[in-house]
Amino acid sequence: MLRGIGQCLSSGEAEQAMKRISPISTPVTPTPVTPNCMRGGRVLVGDCVEIMRGLPAGIADMVFADPPYNLQLGGELTRPNQTRVNGVEDTWDKFADFAAYDSFTRSWLEGVRHVLKDTGTLWVIGSYHNIFRIGSILQDMGFWILNDIVWRKTNPMPNFRGTRFANAHETMIWASKDKNASYTFNYEALKMLNEDIQMRSDWLLPLCTGHERLKDQQGTKVHPTQKPEALLYRVVMTSTNNGDLVLDPFFGTGTTGAVAKGLGRSWIGIERESGYAAVAESRIAEVKEVSDPNVLDIRSKRQAPRVPFGLVVERGLIKPGGALYDHRHNHTAIVRVDGTLVAANHLGDHRGSIHQVGAAVQGLPACNGWVFWHYESGGNLLPIDLLREQIRAETY
Ligand SMILES: C[S@@+](CC[C@H](N)C(=O)[O-])C[C@H]1O[C@@H](n2cnc3c(N)ncnc32)[C@H](O)[C@@H]1O
Repeated sequence: MLRGIGQCLSSGEAEQAMKRISPISTPVTPTPVTPNCMRGGRVLVGDCVEIMRGLPAGIADMVFADPPYNLQLGGELTRPNQTRVNGVEDTWDKFADFAAYDSFTRSWLEGVRHVLKDTGTLWVIGSYHNIFRIGSILQDMGFWILNDIVWRKTNPMPNFRGTRFANAHETMIWASKDKNASYTFNYEALKMLNEDIQMRSDWLLPLCTGHERLKDQQGTKVHPTQKPEALLYRVVMTSTNNGDLVLDPFFGTGTTGAVAKGLGRSWIGIERESGYAAVAESRIAEVKEVSDPNVLDIRSKRQAPRVPFGLVVERGLIKPGGALYDHRHNHTAIVRVDGTLVAANHLGDHRGSIHQVGAAVQGLPACNGWVFWHYESGGNLLPIDLLREQIRAETY
């Protein structure tokens, strides 16, 4: 389980990390990065545009960017009970005008193009203040939008003045480097996460609250825009595999790194404020990494190495002349020396691959022979797919 800093650090460590937090801290000279230090994780302190420019090209499988929103807040906002609403008032969110914001956006997106593999994908999260500008710029730069995801918040802040709708969602753009790029989409894993129903582009998730929300000793939020780990879990699961490298140029409290590490991915976080970077580092140090490949490997059957049924016969797992059955014992086929099957029933004589004969005996246009045909073992009927899995486990 991924946990928040207040919960997972010893009180001494937490105190030290919190003391290092200041809203505007002096940028530190970026640490040089070599290809050797890509595995595991690193927080790099400094300006992400400069740092990405200095990183080796094409190192990242995925970039998650949560850039400044450019909220342009005017005046103080209070709740009906006159308590003050803590918005994003830090200097990192302030830009002279839209042109300055657009120019900054172009610069960091150029950095992303440089560090991202050709097969990698970019995620950018934003609100109505910035996401349309970013979307337009990244399209102009050749990125290809794959989806926009609406993160609908279960617990949004009300519109206290009652002058507009409650702003209850943020938008994430998911994009590849260009239109024809191939990219990772763990479709089946996402479907499994959603109880075998295709995952949609509207995600209902709560804001980051409770134990997960990092707070200082006074109970004040350490960072105004800490993202929920559940959101990053889904993002990382969508577009990376075990061992891939995830880069976040606007690291903040390191939510992306915490989730990436927990899921066995390598990560690089870039953060301008050394106080936030220190918090991120301490937070991630406490995350337990899952290393068991059986838990982490989410490759779908379609992506798994192909095993022909003939290999099952060659390996002696089913002998030529042996019988296969459907799970109800209604149909029988005999295995031939070349891995094809023969069968006969009221529909005729059938000969061919496990799939062809499986379909023919049922009078169907198609059939997945791996799950239709079974072999006898210790008085039980077991699907031949188990033998394919055994070969995969031993071979790959
Ligand atoms: C919206 S917050 C990201 C919050 C983060 N996703 C989290 O869950 O904690 C943006 C962060 O980017 C940092 N930042 C702003 N401009 C930057 C730049 N040019 N280079 C690196 N970091 C920057 C800010 O200090 C801030 O912590």
